[in-house]
Amino acid sequence: MKPGIHESLRRPTDERPIVVLHGDTRELIRQLPDDTFQCAVTSPPYWGVRDYGVKHQIGAEPDLHAYVKDLVDIFREVRRVLKPDGTFWLNIGNTYTSGGRKWRDDDEKNKGRGMSYRPPTPPGLKKKDLIGIAWLLALECQKDGWYLRNDIIWYKPNCQPESVRDRFTVSHEYLFLFSKSEHYLFDQEAIKERTADGNGVKNRRTVWSINTEPCPEAHFAVFPRALVRPCLLAGSRSNDLVLDPFYGAGTVGIVAKELGRRCVGIEIKDEFIAIADKRTSSVQASLIPLV
Ligand SMILES: C[S@@+](CC[C@H](N)C(=O)[O-])C[C@H]1O[C@@H](n2cnc3c(N)ncnc32)[C@H](O)[C@@H]1O
Repeated sequence: MKPGIHESLRRPTDERPIVVLHGDTRELIRQLPDDTFQCAVTSPPYWGVRDYGVKHQIGAEPDLHAYVKDLVDIFREVRRVLKPDGTFWLNIGNTYTSGGRKWRDDDEKNKGRGMSYRPPTPPGLKKKDLIGIAWLLALECQKDGWYLRNDIIWYKPNCQPESVRDRFTVSHEYLFLFSKSEHYLFDQEAIKERTADGNGVKNRRTVWSINTEPCPEAHFAVFPRALVRPCLLAGSRSNDLVLDPFYGAGTVGIVAKELGRRCVGIEIKDEFIAIADKRTSSVQASLIPLV
């Protein structure tokens, strides 16, 4: 750790439960100390889908494997900064090859989706192929040392319609649960669900039906809070430190505050940090005491 730099990365305190670090996560995460966070939850930029308009953004790599490598490298650092019994919850969806188009049109319903280029079709794939990038990334993370523990299907009943004629409209993404070690903190009781007859509870299942949540201030998809809540409830305790290396509009910070956790977010775009600050400051901190 370089002297001087870590000192400026203030840790969240009881009075200030959220700290946002502004910059490239590749640089900043290296300056965080080992074995610090109980859990990490994140949704990285998808490959070639959205232009955030900043230098060093992840997702704009022309090559698919360079994108996967960038993320595996960042997530290796996530593993280093997690406590030995920590977990990592990674939300990612699949994408298609471009079908020959060289750009992505502006999308009226989904502002900011326009991309000035479409990445070329990766070698070995064809136009219109489903890339399977979510699983590609998950398996590379597993090879890199993570324990891959669950692939949760996030089913979106209110998904965006697609004007496709020769395949189904995609209405799900993945949430992968990884652990740093074989044994880890997982509060099964905190996330049990009701049995069908309503008389009891059972272990939560791996298909989660959750509507997307609009965030009028941000022109990109934010996490629905209901997706983050089970991750923090199962993967951390009151006052634990959680990390989101692609913080965006700060949904992990919001849920952390609601549940009485402390949070560090890393975000490259200052406008998004301002949005996140506004969103988190209006959240009522949890009734769970931060001690
Ligand atoms: C899908 S969004 C995350 C949204 C977030 N889950 C939320 O609920 O608001 C991905 C974020 O990663 C940020 N990002 C892209 N490249 C980055 C980098 N190299 N370092 C840090 N943040 C980056 C983008 O600016 C964007 O805010």
